[in-house]
Amino acid sequence: MTIGIPKEIMPGEARVAATPETIKKFIADGATVLVESGAGESSLYYDEQYIEAGAKLVNDTQELFDKSDLILKVKEPLFNEKLQKHEVDMMHKGQHLITFIHPASPVNHEMVKHLAQKGVTSFTLDSIPRISRAQNMDALTSMSTCAGYKGIIMAADDLTIFMPQLFTAVGMLKPANVLVIGAGVAGLQALATARRLGAITYAMDIRPAGNEQAGSLGAKTINLGIPEELAVGKGGYAQTLPEEWLQKEREKIAEVIKDMDIVFCSALIPGKIAPILITEDMIKTMKNGSVIVDISIDQGGNCEMTAPGKKIRAHNVTIQGIKNIPGLIPTSSTWMFSNNVYNLVKYLTKDGEINIDLNDEITSSILVTHNEEIVHTGAREAMKI
Ligand code: NAI
Repeated sequence: MTIGIPKEIMPGEARVAATPETIKKFIADGATVLVESGAGESSLYYDEQYIEAGAKLVNDTQELFDKSDLILKVKEPLFNEKLQKHEVDMMHKGQHLITFIHPASPVNHEMVKHLAQKGVTSFTLDSIPRISRAQNMDALTSMSTCAGYKGIIMAADDLTIFMPQLFTAVGMLKPANVLVIGAGVAGLQALATARRLGAITYAMDIRPAGNEQAGSLGAKTINLGIPEELAVGKGGYAQTLPEEWLQKEREKIAEVIKDMDIVFCSALIPGKIAPILITEDMIKTMKNGSVIVDISIDQGGNCEMTAPGKKIRAHNVTIQGIKNIPGLIPTSSTWMFSNNVYNLVKYLTKDGEINIDLNDEITSSILVTHNEEIVHTGAREAMKI
């Protein structure tokens, strides 16, 4: 099997789908690996290291696509401005693709249809089920870990005060208060990071398990009193709250937000638009210089004032809606991503080839296009097929 690693083309994307370390493992497993020249440069993995690991460097992007049986990417196929060609147009029938496709998202529907028409078998990393045996393939969890950590570092950087409590010759400085709304993967990493920096941490989740885990990380949990059967659905995931409970939650946030220095927003129901939990009126009551980091922005954001992809200042509060936070720690995020992808490829490979077992929970969850059809449930629902 020949595996191709193209250079990512989304502006500002610093990650790449393989490191020299994972390439060595692919080669030991019997694969040939082609890497586009300069593909790892922005994440500090260099061409010489890829060659040393056994990869062949390719300068011509189309040649890399032509010669590969399996393409590994970080971002969904996009239009390559330099070559004036869409990445899907560079692909061929029978080729395999593994990347984050977000196939249910309306902006990707045409691209997904195109992948199916082309006869590409594609797998999306955003649909890996959160089950124990898939943990080492779960790139979404890895990227949320990166976003939780880096999101707090970004917030700390924007603060005009210290995070830890300090005793100085001129007196005591109080520690910062950090509220995390949504104690899932990203939120828990945010809580742990904020605490390591010396902040007092507070957490709010609608799942009792989320609050429990936040508590074990030293956070004070703010109980919303939501009945568990309303908040928790199939597989232990959170489910959409009725509006009356969301309103109660907003009232609770309004009570506590005025004491916070950082509010980290990562509340989400998988596959849904993020609930709006912070309003402009609440922001008006916040301390001067406080910071909101709204990482749910790809799903619309938890704060009604967040500007997608931007950092703004309103009512003396900084509101960060920066997207692609994992790309801001590209060496670590690439390392995690490429190991997840290596584990997935190994899982899917049988006798040196990608094997599609539709009865397998992981394979059937992540398969997007196969045999010239769109097979992904979420995408089909969203496209009304
Ligand atoms: P997750 O599903 O592990 O966590 C979401 C948490 O929100 C769950 O614990 C859930 O119970 C909770 N929640 C749902 N509704 C709530 C409500 N009304 N109030 C309080 N809590 C509520 O998701 P994960 O992986 O932690 O991701 C969180 C968000 O971060 C997602 O929107 C994801 O897209 C985003 N993200 C953003 C990145 C970026 O670069 N901006 C990178 C990675 C993730």
